[in-house]
Amino acid sequence: MGEMLGLGLSHYPGFIYPDHDMAMRVKQTMKSDRVPVALKDPRNWPAPMQQEWGTDEGTTFAAKHRAAFVDGVRRLRQLLDGFNPDAVVIFGDDQYENFQEDLIPPFSVYIGNQFQTQPFVRGRGGGTPQPNVWGEDREATFTTPGHAQLAKHLTRRLLEDGFDMPYSYKFHHMHGLGHAFINTLLYLDYDRKGWTYPIVPFHVNAYGSSLVRNRGGSANLFDKALGEMEPDPPAPSPRRLFALGQAIARIVKDSPYRVALVGSSSWSHAFLTEKNRWMYPDVPSDRQRFEELRTGNYLAWRNLSLGELEQAGEHEILNWIPMVGAMHELEQKPVFCEFIESYLMNSSKCVAAFPPND
Ligand SMILES: [Fe+2]
Repeated sequence: MGEMLGLGLSHYPGFIYPDHDMAMRVKQTMKSDRVPVALKDPRNWPAPMQQEWGTDEGTTFAAKHRAAFVDGVRRLRQLLDGFNPDAVVIFGDDQYENFQEDLIPPFSVYIGNQFQTQPFVRGRGGGTPQPNVWGEDREATFTTPGHAQLAKHLTRRLLEDGFDMPYSYKFHHMHGLGHAFINTLLYLDYDRKGWTYPIVPFHVNAYGSSLVRNRGGSANLFDKALGEMEPDPPAPSPRRLFALGQAIARIVKDSPYRVALVGSSSWSHAFLTEKNRWMYPDVPSDRQRFEELRTGNYLAWRNLSLGELEQAGEHEILNWIPMVGAMHELEQKPVFCEFIESYLMNSSKCVAAFPPND
């Protein structure tokens, strides 16, 4: 009988780069004509955001933000090594990387025995590559084993269960894993102990109505035509993704596999939160999500509407919902659940672990 460990973490690109550069997003957003002039002055920001900005444009706060996250991912790695999975299934979004205008599936499984990725060749936000905090070469290649057998098994059984599962044997517009998957691995191996667990990358179209319009980021804030574009068709619903996670839990339980299931994303993103003029995330909504998660009120997540999530800039929470649906199915509760709050660093982060019941 299979077993499952649930994990949740962020794949925030800011942790790849030095602390003095962590507030880069907000500085970039301030250059948009769509941001009101008053909000370009830190004195008009919410008080906690001003404190984070401090006297050094967020560098001091960045070190604390990183330390809290790294503590969390070290704890996750310890639990992961203790669980010793046969495979790690990662749910992650695609930000106009592998999926573009020619095909956007609601979700999709990558079936492969090996993935090769060069995470540092592209700079943050598509800009010039900067040095990373590990001092690794710009051309460094990470080779990650894939669990093609489990990927096929999941795809087959999900199709039999009524989920019309897209899958692919090769990348389409990308060479290597997208940011959501490779950053998750970079952080779960923050201390570079090495990574040998085979993975199954499970793509979720989390950006939905903003995917092409935003070019997976904030292009709509700088390109007038994109800003005026009709929204794209929506993401899959929280209810559907929750049911998908429940089905995966049942499939794994009936299999011989020990599987770690990872929901990967930060929660509300500043650049997706229109009501805050894209300058800071919806921290109160995230706090509410955190209380629901911490107390095991998973059904509250299933019952969220896409509209609520998008208004809160919480599009990427869709990456966590299949994992949370699986935890609901297996009645697994968090042993560790930390909320790492920030107004300035584009998003708050959550780190959580849900081990199997004895
Ligand atoms: Fe992402």
